[in-house]
Amino acid sequence: MKIGRNTPCWCNSGRKYKQCHEAFDNKLAHFYNEGFDVPDHDIIKVGPEIDRIKESAKINMAALDAVAEKIHEGMTTLEIDEIVSDVTTSMGGICAPLNYDGFPKSVCTSVNDQVCHGIPSADVVLQSGDIINVDCSTILNDFFSDSSRMFMIGEVSEEKQRLVKVAKECCDIGLKEVKPWEPIGNVGAAIKEHAHANGYTIVREIGGHGVGFEFHEEPWVSYVTDWGEGMIMAPGMMFTIEPMVNMGKHSIKTDPINGWEVTTIDGLPSAQWEYQVLVTEDGYELISW
Ligand code: MF3
Ligand code: CO
Repeated sequence: MKIGRNTPCWCNSGRKYKQCHEAFDNKLAHFYNEGFDVPDHDIIKVGPEIDRIKESAKINMAALDAVAEKIHEGMTTLEIDEIVSDVTTSMGGICAPLNYDGFPKSVCTSVNDQVCHGIPSADVVLQSGDIINVDCSTILNDFFSDSSRMFMIGEVSEEKQRLVKVAKECCDIGLKEVKPWEPIGNVGAAIKEHAHANGYTIVREIGGHGVGFEFHEEPWVSYVTDWGEGMIMAPGMMFTIEPMVNMGKHSIKTDPINGWEVTTIDGLPSAQWEYQVLVTEDGYELISW
């Protein structure tokens, strides 16, 4: 359907289409005609929506900050779940993982060879030498935020420390490739190159995702892409950068009993950090980290 140039813009700004997203749509059409995948309007975030997602992200980061302050050797991952739940609910938020597709807890805690979706438990006691990913996701007034961090417990081996450090570098290097009107595959290509140059592999089956209006929305984001591939990043798109970096083989398996916990096939450790990022007119803005 052709939108009248003087009719209100589809983004609900109240401005006339010709003064708002008309040029944006012309650019999308150009890339579409060049054969690129382009985002639908329904995943494009504008000013007031971005502000509300940032409010959600404040809670998400406060929960991670509280974990950073309190995490220690001898603590159980169930205690981490309690910290995240307490901080989130006391600030008026909802923990997005709880009951999501039947997930039983409020946060994901993935230790050592666990790649992601670790379920907090009173039986998992943090030991010196462990590395753990704590992945928080928050809903506030129907807006979603999602980010994760690694923590090292006690005396961690140099090889595990290096894995954690390179996994962080992968996120930072990917972030630099977030540029409007470039294909999103550039993010994964830069990440893949850095991981491989360090002797590591990247999980292929699980990636990042659009986020903000929903917990998981378009696009799906792979971190084993090639340069020039994938959906065009348009200003207002928001997605996660969350490569899972394995010390050994890239292959993974999912616990057949609980259906959630993903581990490396070779038992070697995996590390992951996660950023939530907005594509802007001139680059990116970090929303949650
Ligand atoms: N927070 C995870 C992500 O980064 C999603 C976990 S789904 C859950 O996408 F149900 F396990 F929480
Ligand atoms: Co995510």
